[in-house]
Amino acid sequence: MSKAASTRTTPCLVTASPAASPAVSSALPPADARALVGSLAPLLHDWLPRQRWFAGKGRPVTGFVPVAATELLPMTAGGPGLLHLLVRVEQRSASGPPPAIPSSSPSGAASAASAAASGGDCYQLLLGVRKALPPALASALIGHAAQGPLAGRTVYEGLHDPRLAELLLERLRASGALGPLRFDHAGTVPAGLTGRLLDAEQSNSSLVYGDAYILKILRRVFPGPHPDLELPLALAAEGCDRVPAPVAWFEAADPSGSGDSLTLGVLQPYLRGSQDGWQLALAALARGRDFTKEARALGRATAEVHLALAAALPTVTLGRRQTAQLAEGMAERLEAAAQAVPVLMPYVPGLRTAFDALTGLDEAARGRPAQRVHGDLHLGQTLRTPDGRWSVIDFEGEPARPLAERRRPQPPVRDVAGMLRSFDYAARSHEPWRPDWAARCRAAYCEGYALAAGTDPRAEPELLRAYETDKAVYEVLYEARHRPDWLPVPMAAIRRLADGA
Ligand SMILES: Nc1ncnc2c1ncn2[C@@H]1O[C@H](COP(=O)(O)OP(=O)(O)OP(=O)(O)O)[C@@H](O)[C@H]1O
Ligand SMILES: [Mg+2]
Repeated sequence: MSKAASTRTTPCLVTASPAASPAVSSALPPADARALVGSLAPLLHDWLPRQRWFAGKGRPVTGFVPVAATELLPMTAGGPGLLHLLVRVEQRSASGPPPAIPSSSPSGAASAASAAASGGDCYQLLLGVRKALPPALASALIGHAAQGPLAGRTVYEGLHDPRLAELLLERLRASGALGPLRFDHAGTVPAGLTGRLLDAEQSNSSLVYGDAYILKILRRVFPGPHPDLELPLALAAEGCDRVPAPVAWFEAADPSGSGDSLTLGVLQPYLRGSQDGWQLALAALARGRDFTKEARALGRATAEVHLALAAALPTVTLGRRQTAQLAEGMAERLEAAAQAVPVLMPYVPGLRTAFDALTGLDEAARGRPAQRVHGDLHLGQTLRTPDGRWSVIDFEGEPARPLAERRRPQPPVRDVAGMLRSFDYAARSHEPWRPDWAARCRAAYCEGYALAAGTDPRAEPELLRAYETDKAVYEVLYEARHRPDWLPVPMAAIRRLADGA
């Protein structure tokens, strides 16, 4: 398979000093990084848009710009190399003529946020480089470089290679800098654990080491504190054990010199034998079993996380103006979604009343507490360990929203609404539909939440309805784009919410 026949004897990829041992890694100077990315461009052009975590699907890729390139392991005669790349992907919009100037920003708020300064989303790639790929790694193939510094080399998804995965963990065991990369740890990480890449399709890539740790490699990266590291660290410092505490992480300095870092990966304890709430809910539905005990426990876990976040990080009070802005944002998203998914159009007036009701409330005048929240809470973001205890994972928020927005304090009811929608989803995905099952779970979840938090989310029905509506609108847009078969699920909620239920 490999076109290993190369005229080069030593790959230009290696820029460490001649005295450097194979274990020494280095950042590539900009000119080398450009040559390298140029050499990889034809392969990435084909491979990158096919990755589940590639967020710019449907918009043609027009170019790759290196942001940083670091050799985590220089390639040797006998072994693989590991190349860490941050690459900015230039794209143009899906329809319409190509822009005269290289595209600055594709459609979409998230892209706009990340691209504001740079003109495209920045992705983290960990590329393995070998002369030839062993059969066990065949499925990881990205391609054979035909030109440039990697000419004649086989390039592959390095995270599939247990040897390279182990090397990454080894880097995380000690704090220190490596070119633009900075490794930190808050606990002891054992050596020699074998890593396996989780094959579930996700927005990021996760490696499990010896069933003891999980390393989440963030794929689309942004300058600024990343909530998937920031919030679990804050919760750990607050003594909240509902979230696996980060053990080690790595970041890159923002090459634009903003002083911010780009969070690249977080290592956390792996909850062995755990099952996620979505699987458990579906299993309960399939067996006709009650799930209210679990729902109540989940409500309690959510409340504990909220209490700890409110104690650990700044809170604010949203006044009338901010509440109005919140409602306006929701109404704008509704209008945009109805334009894109016309089936939503007849429900717009009814749904708008949910947002209008927010601004007219007494609470809006008095002020409404807001704090850091999970931001994308649903059953799939919860794990139950074999001892029956629930944990919450994945604090990156809604990946489609700009990082600054995801980090903004919000009413905690937002998370509650997300989970309530999730019970609805589970019940709707079961044949026959079980609205009674969902209603019982939703009530039990709020009860559990109230017991731990001291406030029942149902005490603010307007706020809850507005957030549920906003979420259902998002779901309609998502399903219409990605899973049209599922569109009836959020549309059922849309009908209910438009009626003011
Ligand atoms: N600490 C953990 N212990 C056990 N399994 C975990 C842990 N953290 C994550 N997982 C598993 O890894 C999967 C992916 O994790 P996570 O949700 O953080 O990744 P993601 O790429 O952000 O996913 P998504 O696309 O759903 O946003 C989870 O669904 C869960 O099954
Ligand atoms: Mg996620």
